[in-house]
Amino acid sequence: MAISDFDLVLFGGSGDLAMRKLLPAMYARDVASDLPASARIICVGRDKMPQDEFLNFVDSHSKQHIKDQDSVDENKWQHFLERITYIDLDATDADTFGPLVEVLRKDDAITRVYYLATPPHLFAQICDNLAATGLATPSSRVVLEKPLGRDLESAKQINLDVGKVFAESQIYRIDHYLGKETVQNLLALRFGNVLFEPLWRREWISDVQITIAEKIGVGNRLGYYDNSGALRDMLQNHLLQLLCIVAMEPPTSISPDAVRDAKLQVLRSLKRFTPTTLAQNIVRGQYRGGFVDGKAVPSYRDEPDAPKQSKTETFVAMKAEIDTWRWAGVPFYLRTGKRMADRLAEIVVRFKQIPHSIFNQPTSSFQPNSLVIRLQPDEGLSLNLMAKTPGDSMRLKQAELELDFREQFKAPRMEAYERLLLDVLRGQLTLFMRGDELEAAWEWVEPILDHWEQDDTAPVPYASGTWGPAASSALIGRDGLQWREEALPED
Ligand code: BG6
Repeated sequence: MAISDFDLVLFGGSGDLAMRKLLPAMYARDVASDLPASARIICVGRDKMPQDEFLNFVDSHSKQHIKDQDSVDENKWQHFLERITYIDLDATDADTFGPLVEVLRKDDAITRVYYLATPPHLFAQICDNLAATGLATPSSRVVLEKPLGRDLESAKQINLDVGKVFAESQIYRIDHYLGKETVQNLLALRFGNVLFEPLWRREWISDVQITIAEKIGVGNRLGYYDNSGALRDMLQNHLLQLLCIVAMEPPTSISPDAVRDAKLQVLRSLKRFTPTTLAQNIVRGQYRGGFVDGKAVPSYRDEPDAPKQSKTETFVAMKAEIDTWRWAGVPFYLRTGKRMADRLAEIVVRFKQIPHSIFNQPTSSFQPNSLVIRLQPDEGLSLNLMAKTPGDSMRLKQAELELDFREQFKAPRMEAYERLLLDVLRGQLTLFMRGDELEAAWEWVEPILDHWEQDDTAPVPYASGTWGPAASSALIGRDGLQWREEALPED
């Protein structure tokens, strides 16, 4: 679907996200000829800067983040920069919005998008000021970047504040994991094939693991991260969204509300933790010094500006359950952490053991079938099956059916932000969270946050460059299972 002419206004337009992700994503789509000739990007920031200086800033802070550096052609880059206008204003003061009012084109045929890549405490004021200056037109759209609250109450407040100015159909809540190619492929796999859906239930699936592991530490985001932690930063949003897509009932269509209703049902069916069950089923960890890729890295508490006694978790592993006919009794193991052994995001769906062996091998020697859906670092699927080994004896061994999306389709892939920005510009809401979904996710994690707040114990330490604390292996080990990489044979 072609994109019609637009004015994209980036609040936080000189910030980190704009430089690292948003402008590089827009450049990639420009080079791919997705942007109409007169489409514009209006970067709004607090700093007073003449236009030339801002473009130099973009040149030195954003260009290097373009994923496909081969696509960086000086002419195309200059052409892209011509689309950008910089405006400085104080987002909290409507009286400073004049230059923005002036620059925006007043034509209903031109899509207008306000992208709020700012701290969430500014959302309400920005929306109010857009309304006060007549900029919040009924056809404009607003994009909200995470963190979308830090608990249920603050998330509700954001929904309320933004909802006073924009209708739900105008609000795009970003979770960039939904823009990842493989996440959408999971929808294709589940609902574009007849093969898996009959098996996609408690009768045939024994457990599901979802992991997002990162090698990076907290970097220069300590101020934000120390107040947030892995549960808020990764689990409440990205991991729960992945869980929803794995576990949801077939939506009637790919329309926004059909998909979001199905996801909401999953969130509302998640078994609530009590103080006792959460102590048994959740492990929180914090990285200590160690080695990542052979390089020594510091402990979380020794990161610049980190409180020496910080209790912020950089790792969470948990066993979650979904109380529905489809999933009752099937554990969903969720795990995320920083400074781990590898960068990896994957979903592992393990099927049940065969009921009886007809071969001269005990049932226990059969590896249960599993489907591994890889999001990162490469994107693909593998289906593990038992197959006969060559030769004259009947020995069965695990074999892998591999689908590498890059190899298979040879088509250029899009970064998550490219896809999501295009969807905003096209007015497609399916890959964005609805307000009630956001609240349901916070509602579920809230008892965990409350418990940790009152609990004096610190997260368990784990060495950087490992797969997290031993307690995480013990958590899944209690059910006779292992995290996938622990079960893999050594190279
Ligand atoms: C962000 C988190 O939402 O996702 C970061 O705030 C994290 O802490 C990042 O590093 C991970 O995203 P990706 O796409 O690199 O896996």
